[in-house]
Amino acid sequence: MIAIGSDHGGYALKQEVMEHLAKRGIEFKDFGCYSEESCDYPVYGHAVGRAVASGEYEKGILICGTGIGISLAANKVPGIRAVVCGDVFTAKATREHNDANILAMGGRVVGPGLALMIVDTFLDTPFSGAERHVRRLQMIDDIEV
Ligand code: RB5
Repeated sequence: MIAIGSDHGGYALKQEVMEHLAKRGIEFKDFGCYSEESCDYPVYGHAVGRAVASGEYEKGILICGTGIGISLAANKVPGIRAVVCGDVFTAKATREHNDANILAMGGRVVGPGLALMIVDTFLDTPFSGAERHVRRLQMIDDIEV
């Protein structure tokens, strides 16, 4: 089950992504926003971050104008690794190396064709589980702030 969210800047691309997920038979829940009216991306980044961190949702997809603001909000939630991807290589590498659990994209940055390839790559690529990557992720968790 995928948790998905956007602000107004990502609303149009989110519709394309949800249609694509439905065609693939992948279940999802839309945490908003629900129109192109101007709204605040932290609300949706936080909601999807909480949903994924709870374990109820396997992964998340977040879209704002750039992917940046909404990923920053999600990354405030402990256990979230939200990564902005604008290319397929990054989407693959961040799953294999970083075990990223939320894909963030910019609706004003990537077109729908590329975005759907990024979504498929992110969802279909497993974490490598390599010791060095597990160790580095643990090091991030252990950083004291
Ligand atoms: C909204 O105008 C825009 O700032 C937002 O979608 C996002 O790009 C922020 O990082």
